Amino acid sequence: MQEFLSRLQRPLQSIVVLTGAGVSAESGIPTFRASDGLWENHSIEDVATPGGFKQDPNLVHEFYNQRREALLSHGIGPNQAHSALARFQSIFEDQYPGNFTLVTQNVDNLHERAGSLNVLHMHGELLKSRCYQTGSIFNQQKPLNVDSVCRCCRSLGNLRPHIVWFGELPLEIPKIENSLTTCDLFIAIGTSGLVYPAAGFYEQAKKCGAHTVEINLATTTSNFDTQLSGYASDLVPRFFSQLASFLGLAT
Ligand code: OAD
Repeated sequence: MQEFLSRLQRPLQSIVVLTGAGVSAESGIPTFRASDGLWENHSIEDVATPGGFKQDPNLVHEFYNQRREALLSHGIGPNQAHSALARFQSIFEDQYPGNFTLVTQNVDNLHERAGSLNVLHMHGELLKSRCYQTGSIFNQQKPLNVDSVCRCCRSLGNLRPHIVWFGELPLEIPKIENSLTTCDLFIAIGTSGLVYPAAGFYEQAKKCGAHTVEINLATTTSNFDTQLSGYASDLVPRFFSQLASFLGLAT
């Protein structure tokens, strides 16, 4: 684990962390590609494409209503990986003259509940809805259905989950691209690296001279400089505690 520190080539001015479903797995939110994953009993086309929503909006609303309800249930909360990231961001931003960017593919709010700020949700957020007509975004805790009245245009049926479906453009890309070009250390946590553009971020960071690290239960085939395999709740706190000591941050 400490070996990566000796491989850092230049002073750290900018750190980018990309998280995927694996960071929330130990909080009880199934990953996408596990056998008990979110898509079980539903094809992606049915519940995660604009065409699926057009064809059967009730089914799609119900699918995300269930996910939203589960996320808001008492049993679900941030785990030690989310907490370690939030703690590191806080001390890094307080004590170090560098930038820290947290990008997530997850639509849950567990990073925020652990205390992370300015999280870039590139695949949207489960606890938000969006008006099809105006693009306005609203907080959304209650179930949505085809009779939900949009708060901006007052129409029925215009509200959709604020989720990036297949075939749609991910969010926050200009900010993410900008942080990748200045990145010195890129860390991907709990992502299979199968969905673009997120899957290509580590290569973009590498091209700009960053050291790239993967933390995953099972090492992926991607060509990271450092690959650490194990549970995020175990490795993430250890990794960021060592990084904080290396940078001389008081914890
Ligand atoms: P995946 O389900 O594809 O991958 C989850 C990764 O987390 C796998 O590589 C697992 O090995 C790893 N993992 C599982 N449990 C872990 C743990 N406890 N600690 C560390 N790693 C663990 O999820 P994503 O890569 O996030 O997109 O999927 C990317 C996108 O595909 C999602 O955002 C979603 C989906 O289609 C959209 O909804 C647009």
